[in-house]
Amino acid sequence: MKHQIKSLEQYHSDYKLSIENPEIFWADIAETFVWKKKWDNVLDWNFEKPDIKWFINGKLNITENCLDRHLEIRGDKPAIIWEPNSSDEPNRIITYKELHEAVCRFSNVLQNNGIVKGDRVCLYMPMVPELTIAVLACARVGAIHSVVFAGFSAQSLSDRINDSDCKILITADGLFRGNKTVNLKEICDEALKTTPSIEKVIVYKRTADTIDMKMGRDVWWHSEMNKAATKFDAIEMDSEDELFILYTSGSTGKPKGVVHTCAGYMVYTYYTFLNVFQYEEDDIFWCTADVGWVTGHSYIIYGPLLNGATTVMFEGIPTYPDAGRFWATIDKLQVSKFYTAPTAIRSLMASGLDFVKPYKLDSLKVLGSVGEPINEEAWFWYHDNIGKERCPIVDTWWQTETGGILISPIAYVTPTKPTFATLPLPGVQPILVNQQGEEIVENGVEGLLCMKFPWPSIIRTTYGDHERCRQAYFSTFKNLYFTGDGCRRDEDGYYRIIGRVDDVMNVSGHRLGTAEVENAINEHPNIIESAVVGYPHDIKGQGIYAFVICDKQVNDISLFTKEVNEVISKIISPIAKPDRIQIVSGLPKTRSGKIMRRILRKIAEGDFSNLGDTSTLLDPTVVDEIIRNRK
Ligand code: PRX
Repeated sequence: MKHQIKSLEQYHSDYKLSIENPEIFWADIAETFVWKKKWDNVLDWNFEKPDIKWFINGKLNITENCLDRHLEIRGDKPAIIWEPNSSDEPNRIITYKELHEAVCRFSNVLQNNGIVKGDRVCLYMPMVPELTIAVLACARVGAIHSVVFAGFSAQSLSDRINDSDCKILITADGLFRGNKTVNLKEICDEALKTTPSIEKVIVYKRTADTIDMKMGRDVWWHSEMNKAATKFDAIEMDSEDELFILYTSGSTGKPKGVVHTCAGYMVYTYYTFLNVFQYEEDDIFWCTADVGWVTGHSYIIYGPLLNGATTVMFEGIPTYPDAGRFWATIDKLQVSKFYTAPTAIRSLMASGLDFVKPYKLDSLKVLGSVGEPINEEAWFWYHDNIGKERCPIVDTWWQTETGGILISPIAYVTPTKPTFATLPLPGVQPILVNQQGEEIVENGVEGLLCMKFPWPSIIRTTYGDHERCRQAYFSTFKNLYFTGDGCRRDEDGYYRIIGRVDDVMNVSGHRLGTAEVENAINEHPNIIESAVVGYPHDIKGQGIYAFVICDKQVNDISLFTKEVNEVISKIISPIAKPDRIQIVSGLPKTRSGKIMRRILRKIAEGDFSNLGDTSTLLDPTVVDEIIRNRK
């Protein structure tokens, strides 16, 4: 296939071209697509403002490249294979023709409900094909989609809706997750009490739970679809028109809306999917992420569909009906490329090999890992027991802000090394810097990971607050994009991501800001102040350790823990519940009042030997007390 790297030599020569002549390199890839009008210039960029533009003045609609472009040659090919939560329920297969028709219909539904180009639409949905249909329909009508993971609370949902003034909310009556049913509409109704911008709610029927439908505001997905025409001419978009917003946690304040635009994101997700996974026409590709995260956007929906691939959407969880669900599904659907997160691997590893043994897994060709560092034990378990020592593992490093994979092996091309994301993909120019921002050029070093040149799907802004984008990513080091990750580069020039160096935690692959969790914990009526840090956790990668100062003495610690968990679940999501809570009488603060998290991190890890310099602490005895009372 054109643009597919087939050897290490080709990787090196393509990489060289992409660095020496990025505009020629990316223009050639962009030629793959249908454009309503070609671009004038390929790239214009400035990391100081930041102001980054790719394929300037190009006109297109990404859905024509995900759908229409394929109709003639692969109209009857499955685009989506949907695997439901219950293995007893039949799966659904949706061909490119059918997906195209459904997206056109739903585009009409959006238009009939008042959506015009540039409007924001929020999606809070189960993992059903209708979520993909709705995402693509937004893109087709030129609306900006903002998908919110359906595990977030009503308050998180309303915060996200309000931040970008969404006009429509698309949801479902409920969702199935393992043996649980969640009434999504009830959560939406709670959120909708404080979302003045929402004019309409479109509700997909999934669980048939009893729900309230508010007259004039709430409409059913199926009745709207029945009324809608099956043709919809895709709206013309500029290359730099916004395609979607996706909220993600940072080290300060509330989650920010990362903005990606149409053309650069399209070109980059297409190219990385094609290469990293060595996509082949008859692949069955399964990315187990939820569409609520960037991995789902880029490698369940856009990357695969731009390539004309068959993508699997899974509604359930890895442990239902038992810990063999992934492996059973791989055999059942004959999955050839499988992409999941280390936290899932570790939890399935802990369930034992009896859940793996019944399955052949002989359709597999490539295994992927994403979202957090993969430890050596999990890497080998995955490699030996799932890949049967014959499938390369692509440990893909990237971020919501990067839109697509930046550092990763290319399957069958890049020699892999356990726990290493290995080498940058073409077009990606990583550098390591020290705290002062000076480049560390040699190998065999550790540093802060930055990028010195834009790739097509780099973040453009944070919605409604460009200055926040500049501050968070482009101001730490001059003329560099700062990732927030610490990284090692070994003697071979291979990159290994160590983890976040800022106040962002990565819990089971979910990104959470310490400030965000602290603000939520502090809502508990008996908590005066709190400090939260991440600490190593066998399954989750990182667990959350909360140090809290209480107003009144706590007599029933389990009741207190339950209450704290309820507060967190209500304000953020159950994914942000602390794994450990320690009541303390004070926090280690500097004389200027700053919490020294470095010390708390050490204590949470159980490493009291080297707490570093504590001489600037206002009250060093606090530290002794915390250590004494740590269980
Ligand atoms: O710390 C890195 C970690 O996940 C962060 C990005 O999180 P998010 O925006 O939620 O996107 C996750 C999915 C792309 C990064 O800053 N991370 C992601 N992939 C890896 C990783 N850490 C180590 N190895 C990876 N392969």
